Amino acid sequence: MTRRVGILGAGQLGAMLATALVKQGASVVLYDRDASAPASKRFRVLTGSWSDPQALAAFASECDVVTYEREHVDVEALRAAKIVPVPSLAVLETTQNRAKEKAFLASARLPHAAFVVVEDRAHLGEAASVFGFPCIAKTIVGGYDGKGQWLLASAGDVGRVPDVAVVLEDVVPIAIEVSCIVARADETVAFPIFENAHVAHVLDTTVLPARVSPEVASAVAQLACEAAQILDVRGLLTTEFFLANEPAARSESTAVDGMHIYVNEFAPRPHNSGHVTRVACSSSQFDLLAKVLMNAPIEAPKLLSGGFAMVNVLSEHCDDALVSRAAAIAIGDHAHSGIDEVMLYGKAGRSPRRKLGHLIAHAPDAEGAMALAIRARSTLNPVRP
Ligand SMILES: Nc1ncnc2c1ncn2[C@@H]1O[C@H](COP(=O)(O)OP(=O)(O)O)[C@@H](O)[C@H]1O
Ligand SMILES: [Mg+2]
Repeated sequence: MTRRVGILGAGQLGAMLATALVKQGASVVLYDRDASAPASKRFRVLTGSWSDPQALAAFASECDVVTYEREHVDVEALRAAKIVPVPSLAVLETTQNRAKEKAFLASARLPHAAFVVVEDRAHLGEAASVFGFPCIAKTIVGGYDGKGQWLLASAGDVGRVPDVAVVLEDVVPIAIEVSCIVARADETVAFPIFENAHVAHVLDTTVLPARVSPEVASAVAQLACEAAQILDVRGLLTTEFFLANEPAARSESTAVDGMHIYVNEFAPRPHNSGHVTRVACSSSQFDLLAKVLMNAPIEAPKLLSGGFAMVNVLSEHCDDALVSRAAAIAIGDHAHSGIDEVMLYGKAGRSPRRKLGHLIAHAPDAEGAMALAIRARSTLNPVRP
């Protein structure tokens, strides 16, 4: 019998996962609030609210196994719908809530920026003065792509934070951000680590291999595997890390080869930084998650030779008039340029910083791949490269 896999969320991550699942012989159905979400172009999407147990249960009744492509789903509604997703509800509950995530880091003794949880604005001023400035306030639930974060340089900035529960966090003097994706079933395997650059808190570029020493790379992968094991993840766990040349003021790091390593946060799902694995590795993040969901064995992904770079295409990188022709333009010089993948997600609405697609390039080294990818992206908008 064909195994039926359900995906909560029909965005670009859901669409790429669905494609990998179909290759593994699965039948796939997705669930989203938005009937025109990216995956709807090629897959069946049931629509309903994230907090409607009946609609969720009807979706789940069509599935042998359910996973999710976003962690901001309503755990209580999933529980009421008797959905037991992969990764588990316990993993989801920890990783969708910054206070629980930080408490986990502390209890698992994984290195992380010092933090304090503040319940509401009435307590924020005093808590921030005791904790010390500068610090970053982050909402406990619902934040992503830098949304729900405020840098507090001094007491004067406290008033900018809305009256919600926040985590106050030490500012890490970041030299490099990296991430590591671990796939886990009976075995635990790690992808090579990715080096990530953000612009205005949104991922801009990912390069592989990350430009860190082999000792740092292996310490990062080791921490990512440990986190997946302690959380007991089945499926994928992405761990984001900060690397700093000097320690953060109030935090305790793991120092390797002169680099201070901090775990930033987790995502128990395919991750934007992992798109590069579609080209750079023997199996992609989507392939390995598909295998776990199909109960097929997984093998450690191998890094192919050379350097690879993924750049996100945001609304501002894409001229309106060019958006439909964009893929063709970029693919136009594809054959000899080292551009391996150009993907536009087919999103109708444009808003600042919205992720519309990505490009992946390869070259003999990471710098070359990055230059190619950025140049290709600049052809998507001749006005504003
Ligand atoms: N404690 C910190 N110190 C320095 N920079 C930070 C810190 N926390 C977050 N940032 C910056 O903001 C980005 C987004 O923060 P993150 O906690 O990963 O939230 P999101 O859920 O929006 O990805 C990080 O990738 C990093 O560039
Ligand atoms: Mg992040």
